[in-house]
Amino acid sequence: MKIIRVHTKSRPSSVCCGAGALDEAINFLQGAQVFIVTDSNVFRLYQTLLAERFPQASVCVLPAGERHKNRRSLFRILDEMLGAQLHRSSVVVALGGGVIGDMAGLAAAVYMRGTRLIQIPTTLLAQVDSSVGGKTAIDYRGVKNMVGAFYQPERVFCDPLFLQTLPNREIRCGLGEIIKTAVLDPQVKDLVVQNFTRLFDFAFLQDLAAECVRFKAHIVERDETETSGLRKCLNLGHTTGHALELLCGRRSHGEYVLIGMWLESKIAEAEGVCSREYAEQIRAMIRLVLPRIPCFANAAEGLQFALLDKKNTSQGMVSMILPKAEGEYVEYVLPAERYGEYLKLLEGEQR
Ligand SMILES: NC(=O)c1ccc[n+]([C@@H]2O[C@H](COP(=O)([O-])OP(=O)(O)OC[C@H]3O[C@@H](n4cnc5c(N)ncnc54)[C@H](O)[C@@H]3O)[C@@H](O)[C@H]2O)c1
Ligand SMILES: [Zn+2]
Repeated sequence: MKIIRVHTKSRPSSVCCGAGALDEAINFLQGAQVFIVTDSNVFRLYQTLLAERFPQASVCVLPAGERHKNRRSLFRILDEMLGAQLHRSSVVVALGGGVIGDMAGLAAAVYMRGTRLIQIPTTLLAQVDSSVGGKTAIDYRGVKNMVGAFYQPERVFCDPLFLQTLPNREIRCGLGEIIKTAVLDPQVKDLVVQNFTRLFDFAFLQDLAAECVRFKAHIVERDETETSGLRKCLNLGHTTGHALELLCGRRSHGEYVLIGMWLESKIAEAEGVCSREYAEQIRAMIRLVLPRIPCFANAAEGLQFALLDKKNTSQGMVSMILPKAEGEYVEYVLPAERYGEYLKLLEGEQR
């Protein structure tokens, strides 16, 4: 088992990765009033485990899926917290994927101005990315993660036991964020490239997940609240990814991130931000997980959503993180019209 410390100013935390992490969580929670937030799929799969391992806990079960990452679910969690008479030293446990982690995290941040929080991520995406770093949010009026807070969990426990029930599509989703990290971090890139045949092998994924957490912790420690600009690098592929996710919403978040990175590597190449050779290397990594980039007949309509991206600072301009060279990236701003033209590269034939 690996322990990765996250030295954030607001609250230092640590991430425990590997088999046995759930037992560690149970030990950590000894004696506390525990309030578990989960979704209907995770509850169905792990109901017995929950009853056996957390017999005293209150459990709040929300409908599964991104479309329920909204104020209704947030207020339902808060209502149930109040109903369970939680106090500030009670512990909210986010047991689920990124949707549950983000919503339970936000509920913990605002209930009585802050209750204790731990994350037990159950999807690959949540284990490698969303459970670490303290970003919490709900979607609001069609804008992803519009209402949220930075709120660090005390601990994160990533147990590979949960990955066994994950559908392949969700593994692919987590791999989307892993490939993003590989583009940002040469160490993760080497691991991915040298072991490309093992990307769907759980033993390898466990090592890879810990490396991704190490990288994210390093970034978050230096720019916890995204003020210096450093943390924005974690949004690579997300300007286009989020725009397509809001436009179509049929695929998983990680797949949209892969498609977003594909387009943004094309933009980086065309704008002279990176070499063609480097852009090709990125696209080769993307193809390891998503062999064919799908087409979107109405891709250009994604512009309206890209214009709502939280990274944008001036009207009519779209901001994105572009890859520059190995381990290097830059924030790049394009006039809306030019970005709209690039979006059209996603229309037409499959690639
Ligand atoms: N806070 C952050 O820093 C951050 C970073 C990246 C992504 N996110 C957010 O994370 C969300 C995506 O997370 P996600 O991909 O985990 O989605 P998700 O939480 O919707 O989970 C995906 C699906 O897997 C199911 N599931 C969860 N655990 C399972 C298990 N062990 N076995 C079988 N099924 C299981 C869920 O019920 C759901 O249907 C998005 O809302 C995104 O904005 C947040
Ligand atoms: Zn993401």
